[in-house]
Amino acid sequence: MNQDELKHLVGRAAANYVLSNVAHGAVLGVGTGSTANFFIDEIAVHKDRFRGAVSSSVASTERLRNHGFEILELNDVETLPVYVDGADEIDAQGHMIKGGGGALTREKIVAAVAQTFVCIVDQSKRVEQLGKFPLPVEVIPMASSAIARRLVAMDGEPKLRKAKDGSTFITDNGNWILDVQSLRIDDPVALEAEINNWPGVVTSGLFALRGANICLLGTPDGVDRVDY
Ligand code: A5P
Repeated sequence: MNQDELKHLVGRAAANYVLSNVAHGAVLGVGTGSTANFFIDEIAVHKDRFRGAVSSSVASTERLRNHGFEILELNDVETLPVYVDGADEIDAQGHMIKGGGGALTREKIVAAVAQTFVCIVDQSKRVEQLGKFPLPVEVIPMASSAIARRLVAMDGEPKLRKAKDGSTFITDNGNWILDVQSLRIDDPVALEAEINNWPGVVTSGLFALRGANICLLGTPDGVDRVDY
């Protein structure tokens, strides 16, 4: 199976998880990225079972709307039973790096409200230690050089993310992203707390303070479920 087939497999597994574990009339938390897209396409067939969805990006909102899903504002929802999203890396504790697609801040906000975070990944995302994938850090534009200097002082190599046309990548929130290579992430919880505290950082792509509760891992032999 190629990577896309594995992503499709876990997208379908997540839809089955939601159908078996989430009450009729609930609101779903929906993530962003190519794996989340497979989940959206699979769950959309059952959209009438749900009151709607809270989405973590403009792109996912558009995809959900195209399927006829009702989109709700997070401000109008008190709790979400489940949040389903992909990741760029996940370790044995359910700590993740996210934000390869640039939606890290809204993803973290929606995930924080959800009771259960279901992470859906193909097996290439499972790592022993986080950090091979460059850590995305969303920053207020005026703070980007100051934040970059702090990251360099930690032996990181930050690079300002560019869009496909070569211009600076702008997040859904109007901010910039530094992608940081070579960071040593021995303690993801402590590093997330530290970076998030720097003035000018909107959020880092470390999802460790609130990691995944369940991982549905796509392998050529099927989907492995890991609970944390
Ligand atoms: C989006 O900003 C990210 O957090 C994605 O969830 C992550 O990059 C995984 O994306 P893919 O499913 O496309 O690999």
